[in-house]
Amino acid sequence: MTLEITTTLNPNPVSDERLAEILADPGFGNHFTDHMFRVEWTPEAGWHNARIEPYGPLSLDPACSVLHYAQETFEGLKAYRHTDGTIWGFRPEANAARMARSSARLAFPVLETEDFVQAISELVKVDARWVPAAVEGEEKSLYIRPFMFASENFLGVRAAQHVTFMVICSPAGSYFKGGMKPVRLWLSESFTRAGRGGMGAAKTGGNYASSLAPQAEAYAKGCDQVMFLDASEGKYLEELGGMNIFFVYGGANGGRLVTPSTSGTILEGITRDSLLELAADHGLKVEERQIPLSEWRDGVASGEITEVFACGTAAVITPIGELLSADGSIVTPDPGGPVTTALRKNLVDLQFGRAEDIHGWTTQFA
Ligand code: PLP
Ligand code: COI
Repeated sequence: MTLEITTTLNPNPVSDERLAEILADPGFGNHFTDHMFRVEWTPEAGWHNARIEPYGPLSLDPACSVLHYAQETFEGLKAYRHTDGTIWGFRPEANAARMARSSARLAFPVLETEDFVQAISELVKVDARWVPAAVEGEEKSLYIRPFMFASENFLGVRAAQHVTFMVICSPAGSYFKGGMKPVRLWLSESFTRAGRGGMGAAKTGGNYASSLAPQAEAYAKGCDQVMFLDASEGKYLEELGGMNIFFVYGGANGGRLVTPSTSGTILEGITRDSLLELAADHGLKVEERQIPLSEWRDGVASGEITEVFACGTAAVITPIGELLSADGSIVTPDPGGPVTTALRKNLVDLQFGRAEDIHGWTTQFA
């Protein structure tokens, strides 16, 4: 299906002066563009009433079922301005496919890839002036947040018969205040993120709600993010609150990138997947497998693990400097070292159109 989208322009868009101030220092998730996209679903009419309208509050009935049972799923991707002024997305079809998988898990109808990409692309065209200019070294972009929620007013526990899909956009700088500065992780041993058969692979608000208490614990310990272990044995590394993790084996028997396998309990990151493909271009072997926590300690002690980094749309690639736990700390020998730096440059150059798109990952929005 191709959506028929009606557009109502915002009669009071943010002024050029205010926009320039916002884009000078956008932060992450603080400011929102002049418009939003919305489409509704019912079993009878399917997806209908697609529109781009002025950004503004939603009016929800107190019985709106997402407020009670959290039937919700979301995505996160970015639009990048290239030096010639054009605006591009990075693998938006992969986000559409992941949202379809999350939708299946959350008992939602599926929004076709074509419709998902069209909705984003039309909204980005309308709000194009919000996409920061291409300035090398700044890496500012427009963060795009598609989300779907149960919008039926009903307290029975079943899949909603009225569903809303929306897209909002927010200009973004670095997720972490320090940019490429190495972050510290707190190892959560009292909380887990997802169990077998649960929702770990779905991008749904509940997973983030459950990460907030461990994340608060991390902040209290002076750390930036929480590191989760598997729920069954508490032995294997899974992912961070909002990012996947990679180890660089740069010592003896090196030239390897190692990351936890996606076994249904972690989010199948698109950055993660892209790095696994890019690794070959850097002469790196890849291993996706279970990684016991003890391997991290032993690998650093033996000099085999040289770099550790987190990756995701918001985080891009961020070096991990230390894992802190009740038992002590593991300090990365060379955070932000040569492999992290080269992979990061390759990824960011592709996103900003400074490297040839040999993988066919970019899609022009405007
Ligand atoms: N893991 C979690 C829990 C996340 O929230 C994210 C961010 O979206 C990722 C991993 C990385 O996924 P992606 O690279 O698709 O942004
Ligand atoms: C993203 O990277 O898109 C996320 O959703 C992660 C979140 C920490 C902002």
